[in-house]
Amino acid sequence: MKIILLGAPGAGKGTQAALIKDRYGIPHISTGDIFRANIREGTPLGIKVKSIIDSGNLVPDGLTVEIVKDRLSKPDCDGGYILDGFPRTLAQAEALDGFTDIDVVIDVAVPAETVVKRISGRRMCKCGETYHISTYKDACCAKCSQPLYQRDDDKEDVVKERLRVYESQTKPIADHYAAKGKLSVVEGTGSVETIFADIARILDDHR
Ligand code: AP5
Ligand code: MG
Repeated sequence: MKIILLGAPGAGKGTQAALIKDRYGIPHISTGDIFRANIREGTPLGIKVKSIIDSGNLVPDGLTVEIVKDRLSKPDCDGGYILDGFPRTLAQAEALDGFTDIDVVIDVAVPAETVVKRISGRRMCKCGETYHISTYKDACCAKCSQPLYQRDDDKEDVVKERLRVYESQTKPIADHYAAKGKLSVVEGTGSVETIFADIARILDDHR
């Protein structure tokens, strides 16, 4: 199953992708995670994208598409995958159409005030786990014990810019998938478990 998760910054894409990965056994591919890992490791890609990400803007389409194309060519993607945070522009969506055939696109719909609350309390682990201070009080990851951290682009002014970029460049691509009959919208304001149950129903219908 080839899945795209759409949704605003902080909508819960990463949280739901981790659950989908566990249940369906397909890799979770987050372009944001790939960029952050490169920034941490100080690779040429990381050095190139750091200031763009810290300002809340998008990494250029050509570069992002090449990274995804390369990642999807790996053997672990043969049985499908979950794309989280890609595509993010119409140009990326059209490029993706050129090298793969997506089965289902799930748009996690959450109002702006909710995403701001979610992002301001988010804590991350380098292993990819995501937490929120309202439900997780420990300073270290429950899965791997590494210390949790706050993302550099989760500062209030950068979050505003990310939301602006989302509204102008990413939200419109839902129409691209609706026109192909591939779009399902899931209400993203309930509990993590309720939202996942809705997503699992949609995915089970596509199996
Ligand atoms: P990326 O890492 O993709 O960030 P994003 O899209 O802004 O999304 P987030 O990761 O902030 O939110 P999420 O939806 O994953 O929510 P989460 O599950 O963590 O991208 C970062 C940057 O990289 C971009 O700004 C851009 O610069 C660059 N980039 C990435 N992809 C690119 C691309 N394709 N093209 C160009 N540039 C690209 O949840 C948020 C919080 O809420 C957590 O604390 C979580 O615990 C909590 N939570 C989740 N669900 C619930 C719930 N149901 N109830 C209560 N709390 C919840
Ligand atoms: Mg995420």
